[in-house]
Amino acid sequence: MRTWEYISKDGRKIFVRPAQRDDATNLHEGFRKVVDEGRWLPTFVANAHVSDWVHWIERTNHNRDILLIAFLGEKYAGHLTLQPEEWNASQHVAKLGIIVVNECRHVGVGRSLMLAAEEFGMEKDYMKIILSTFEDNTIALDLYRNLGYRLVGVRKNHFNMPKGFIDEVLMEKELLEL
Ligand SMILES: CC(C)(COP(=O)(O)OP(=O)(O)OC[C@H]1O[C@@H](n2cnc3c(N)ncnc32)[C@H](O)[C@@H]1OP(=O)(O)O)[C@@H](O)C(=O)NCCC(=O)NCCS
Repeated sequence: MRTWEYISKDGRKIFVRPAQRDDATNLHEGFRKVVDEGRWLPTFVANAHVSDWVHWIERTNHNRDILLIAFLGEKYAGHLTLQPEEWNASQHVAKLGIIVVNECRHVGVGRSLMLAAEEFGMEKDYMKIILSTFEDNTIALDLYRNLGYRLVGVRKNHFNMPKGFIDEVLMEKELLEL
């Protein structure tokens, strides 16, 4: 299996690999915890069950979805998803989603997941990654900018969150220059 290793800002090992069936509980719990923070994602309730995650993980063995899991030391720290755009003509474009659990943030887990995803994405014939985030998510914006993602545009007042209306920032990166 493909694996990646990085070192965190405080010297711990960050291990990244494609998710396996047994990871479903961690992915489910991790996503639920970030949704429960109520600040970062335009989802209010994590409706998926562990079984949905199992099915998604199993589908990655047969389709072009990528589901990467990261461990800080031995502990689950976060995960990242890449999914192809729906259009026939955009199958070289992957949509990215990422979460790192609160207690594992700011030490390089997000960056490690992104770097592994770019490598693995290219191996799966993706040429471009697209993503979006809230305009006040400075950590995510810094992370993406530092990795070379460019601003595509801003959708004004695109989300009606408990804290009020918020802009969506769209970004992208070409993995291969055409
Ligand atoms: C956004 C998120 C994935 C980043 O993961 P992370 O593991 O905290 O990020 P990293 O530790 O790799 O840090 C990446 C960059 O963020 C910046 N950063 C880290 N901590 C920061 C802080 N406290 N304040 C401001 N910037 C910070 C740094 O510039 C760092 O870049 P560098 O290492 O190139 O200098 C994570 O914070 C998260 O899951 N947040 C909640 C869910 C979310 O927002 N998902 C993305 C929605 S699009």
